[in-house]
Amino acid sequence: MDDKMLMKELNKILTLEHGHLGMYEKYMDYSDKEIRRTFRRFMEVEIEHIEKLKTVIRNLGDKPSLIIEGGDIIGRLFNITINVADERGMLKAYSFIEQKAHAGYTDFVSKLENDSEKRNQFIAEIAASNMLEAKLMQLWLDDKLKNMHVQA
Ligand SMILES: [Fe+2]
Repeated sequence: MDDKMLMKELNKILTLEHGHLGMYEKYMDYSDKEIRRTFRRFMEVEIEHIEKLKTVIRNLGDKPSLIIEGGDIIGRLFNITINVADERGMLKAYSFIEQKAHAGYTDFVSKLENDSEKRNQFIAEIAASNMLEAKLMQLWLDDKLKNMHVQA
């Protein structure tokens, strides 16, 4: 992967991560205490993802730049509207988005791993931790969804 392509990918992922942050940062708005607590931590995780990507971009000598600025990034990237008042629908949508994030990272990591450049192996390791956490979040969302179903 050449530098231009790498930077493009990193900025695209950075934009998605800002979208993820937008999903969880209004954690106080939920009536479910477990969702509030979990989303608060997810918000922190997303901030960590953003910071890691920014650090990588800066260390490559570039400036982080989002491909979509502000607003409803997730809605625009995935062409969906999420109604947070419908908690089941919201959990389903977020699970889908985390699943997409995990798949995107999987693809990115394997591209980097197949690259002979040593530097890219290092970036792959950083991306792999974000990849894992996207999966963990998806699993939590799915589990929550399942338990809500049992209660209903
Ligand atoms: Fe993330």
